[in-house]
Amino acid sequence: MMQKKLNRRRTLVTAALCFCFMAATVPGFGQSLAGRWVAVVRTLDNGEQQKSILELKQNGNDLTGTVKSEDFSFDVKGTATGNHFELFAPRFGQARPFMVGDLVNGELHGMQGGRRPVVEKPATEADQVVTVTYIEPPALHNVPSNGLAKTPPMGWNSWNLFAGKIDDQTVRTMADAMVSSGMRDAGYIYVNIDDTWEGVRDANGNLQTNHKFPDMKALSDYVHSKGLKLGIYSGPGPRTCAGYPASYGHEEQDAKTFAAWGIDYLKYDWCSAGGIYTKPEYLQPVYQKMGDALQSTGRPIVYSLCEYGMGSVEKWGSVVGGNLWRTTGDIRDAWSSMIGNVERQVPTAPYAGPGHWNDPDMLEIGNGHMSDDEYRTHMSLWALVASPLLAGNDVRTMSPVTKSILMNKEVIAIDQDALGKQASPVKNGDLETWVKPLADGSVAVGVVNMGAEATEATVKASDLQLSGKVKSARDLWAHQDVHFKDGAYSAMVPSHGVLLLKVRAK
Ligand code: GLA
Repeated sequence: MMQKKLNRRRTLVTAALCFCFMAATVPGFGQSLAGRWVAVVRTLDNGEQQKSILELKQNGNDLTGTVKSEDFSFDVKGTATGNHFELFAPRFGQARPFMVGDLVNGELHGMQGGRRPVVEKPATEADQVVTVTYIEPPALHNVPSNGLAKTPPMGWNSWNLFAGKIDDQTVRTMADAMVSSGMRDAGYIYVNIDDTWEGVRDANGNLQTNHKFPDMKALSDYVHSKGLKLGIYSGPGPRTCAGYPASYGHEEQDAKTFAAWGIDYLKYDWCSAGGIYTKPEYLQPVYQKMGDALQSTGRPIVYSLCEYGMGSVEKWGSVVGGNLWRTTGDIRDAWSSMIGNVERQVPTAPYAGPGHWNDPDMLEIGNGHMSDDEYRTHMSLWALVASPLLAGNDVRTMSPVTKSILMNKEVIAIDQDALGKQASPVKNGDLETWVKPLADGSVAVGVVNMGAEATEATVKASDLQLSGKVKSARDLWAHQDVHFKDGAYSAMVPSHGVLLLKVRAK
């Protein structure tokens, strides 16, 4: 295995070895700002501190240097006037300073990006950028199908609502609510813990949980006792997107840990892997590695790839053992984000099917920043494109409207259709029409009104590639049968709303 040292941007605090920094006086220029400075960016829930190190040189008024941290490394330059300094990062443009401040009592006190207060203290020798051993990705082969996710996975995920504020107790109450609300019985089976559950590795390299998750096995037993399944999160880099330890160099070990905890679903998020594996051709072998590791545990674990669609993941996601793969960046609870994500699904449509799904990201339904019409459109589109349905709202306190959207059984049935076809849009003015063939020979058709005014939509039977004339049709939001007349059906669709029909041929 070829190995090389990479300068990874991780800092360690270990011993109190003193780095002999002393601010010397530069004649005529006040104190020198030269030296190594360290700032705590934030403290993680596992007790680790994310730090950045600023190395500065001073020549008269001129400052040059570098900023290194876990996630980045870039050059800075600027000026010192007496004890005042301004630093720019040429990589980010010269429009505004990266950091402005003053040397106060041997510390640099400043603002980063004009708004974030930062205190840089003299760094000790222990404040180092960690080097990570480069591990060559494996040769490619086809990972056999794990036989899971014959229809798009359904469940709940903690990230959209809680981000870093998720813990054992919240997951338990959410699992309770998945049952009492009817979500489980509607098909939402997976309860997925996203980022920030991670602790540190023990002496044997086993990844532990942090204080928010005192006993992951007990939690999975609890979730399983409710007839639900438990999902977890990691990534192929040394760090997750939120900065916690990820599975780099520990893939098999972590897969075994997850299996031992009783985990049923893994979301595997690229993030810091990009700092190590810089070429697109690394994506596939790196994801294959965890695909193999999961399968070698012998436990059925749904494998969710999260790399935002890079390297045409839809073309190789299934041969690395993936059951679903994100095709886009993160969704936000906003119409433009939701529509943008689903529209970016178009090139991926041929690659969806039983066991392997394109994933335009989790649901935002019920999180409060879209209208009910927009949420109905969100649900309809996710069903039409055979997307995973992972609720991202507080299922403990859902309004009746949110329940009626997430638990519309007729719409869920479109998503879960056994044929597994992914619809694509046909645009006509403000109207977008998405047609999805279904296993029983009928079709689902959704007409979305992208415009600002209510508009009449007309669905023509001749556009639906039916095997014969329309026998019956049903409006899946009104929950009532409707009638095609002269081969067409028309209805008013509110702005950002949807007309969703299931149409059966004779
Ligand atoms: C990335 C993913 C999100 C979420 C966060 C967690 O941004 O795309 O879905 O998992 O990381 O840090």
